[in-house]
Amino acid sequence: MKFSKTLALLASAVLASADNTITFISQDALGRTIYFTGNPGSAPVAPVHVAGGENKTVPIPPHWVGNYYAVTDGQPNIPGMLGEFAFDAWGGNNFFDVSAIVNPNDHNGVKKIWPVGEPEPFSGCELFPCNFAYYLPDDLQTKSSKKSDFYCTLGTKGALSVEERSLMDVPDHSPSYGREYVEGRKL
Ligand SMILES: *[C@@H]1O[C@H](CO)[C@@H](O)[C@H](O)[C@H]1NC(C)=O
Repeated sequence: MKFSKTLALLASAVLASADNTITFISQDALGRTIYFTGNPGSAPVAPVHVAGGENKTVPIPPHWVGNYYAVTDGQPNIPGMLGEFAFDAWGGNNFFDVSAIVNPNDHNGVKKIWPVGEPEPFSGCELFPCNFAYYLPDDLQTKSSKKSDFYCTLGTKGALSVEERSLMDVPDHSPSYGREYVEGRKL
């Protein structure tokens, strides 16, 4: 009895303190630094370097709302394609999207985001421009998931076949939401 109670307490402690994560998947040989910008009230997340070909998992604090962009080694620090997240947000969901609003010319940084273990929902794509990212603030491109672990691809995935390209032109089957959800304005 005592033993199982201790286990239950341990399990709930682990659940309560479990971080959200984003695992960056580098798809080419270039190293990149990811710079995170949290909304006011969100705990800071330090920049992270992701080597070429590496998968790197970054813990994200509970209730973090903000965005990040990738800067290739040796390049000036200019915000590019953004990965945007609102973790533990409205309805206990995690909202995310890829946004080209700040810099649509970055075709080499943040590419696509989806929950670990599930192909959908996703935002962004492997080849920009595409229909699955924000270009205008009133687009509906934000996605929602109960999962707290996400993948985000970086860089170029080598040559893509015609079949792979056409597969990527298919939207996912999940509902899309407005920017107020990923910006934490919908509470
Ligand atoms: C990175 O993660 C992806 C998705 O799970 C996997 O397909 C790939 O093999 C991993 N790459 C490395 C270098 O671990």
